[in-house]
Amino acid sequence: MGFPADVRIVEVGPRDGLQNEKIDIGTAHKIELIDRLSKTGLRSIEATAFVSPKWVPQMADAAEVLAGITRAPGISYPVLVPNEQGYERARAAGAAEVAVFTAASEAFNLKNTNATVAQSLDRFRPVLERAHADGVRVRGYVSTVLGCPYQGEVPLADVVRVARELHAMGCYEISLGDTIGIGTPVKARAMLQAVAAEVPMAALAIHFHDTYGQALANVLACLEEGVAVVDSAVSGAGGCPYAKGASGNVASEDVVYMLHGLGIRTGIDLPLLAETGRWLAALLGRDTGSKVGKALGA
Ligand code: HMG
Ligand code: MG
Repeated sequence: MGFPADVRIVEVGPRDGLQNEKIDIGTAHKIELIDRLSKTGLRSIEATAFVSPKWVPQMADAAEVLAGITRAPGISYPVLVPNEQGYERARAAGAAEVAVFTAASEAFNLKNTNATVAQSLDRFRPVLERAHADGVRVRGYVSTVLGCPYQGEVPLADVVRVARELHAMGCYEISLGDTIGIGTPVKARAMLQAVAAEVPMAALAIHFHDTYGQALANVLACLEEGVAVVDSAVSGAGGCPYAKGASGNVASEDVVYMLHGLGIRTGIDLPLLAETGRWLAALLGRDTGSKVGKALGA
């Protein structure tokens, strides 16, 4: 299998990044971040999460963020929903795409959503039914695909089963998340191969966190398998609640630089994306988490 000719980046900085940052940049800056990202050529920008504000206070302003952004044509702005209540809030705020999330590890899912994996899948069924009736697209996430902070090893069979169930339920795309950024390339490739044996590659996305500095290598290994959707966060925003001081998602700028270097099209204006990353880093009071962003800004 060769590299795909085009890759779609799903920019998760405004959600996955900011949910893990200690500094809250405020609603107006969240809106400005998404509006700036909308000008870079990105086609998918995960805007926020309609989860319980008691669980994730950083996303309490989800409705204001969604109402405040300028939606550009051709760009999708998915939002996370954990249950029907989240779906209702998201729809009331005008969301046209949502994402449901569960895990391959029981222990992680209980800590993250207070539900077993089976219970979370049961919560999603009515969400999928309503979304289908409303013409709303649903993305699905599987977390802890390469390891769990509580349970350790995660059997591949569990990853495959959960991905298959989300796909069978009607999720158009399944994002495979190395939530704690523990994976290495050969394991990442084997995981993707195992899932792709049951779910079409065209319906799969990869989602790497850079906790151990392996994310870009993992992305490359998976591109070689033919995956064509990559989740990443501008400026490498975020962190990991399970590893103090850890990096966040793989930086979008670094992924785009690598993709362009491989001759893969993204449609993204890299200098503009990098500038946005440095602007965000300044708001967060630190250096950009993207090596490319740093180099282009020098
Ligand atoms: P629970 O406490 O079991 O929920 O939480 P509940 O149904 O018993 O309700 C308790 C209270 O929460 C009630 O309020 C509900 O109204 C409220 P009260 O009566 O006490 O005032 N509530 C809500 N409020 C707003 N929006 C909602 C909602 N639902 C209930 N949607 C629940 C269960 C799932 C809600 C909670 O555990 C939760 O919100 N978890 C979200 C955790 C989260 O967002 N984690 C981060 C995202 S996942 C991730 O980052 C991984 C990913 O990036 C991929 C990867 O890297 O692997 C996607
Ligand atoms: Mg994540």
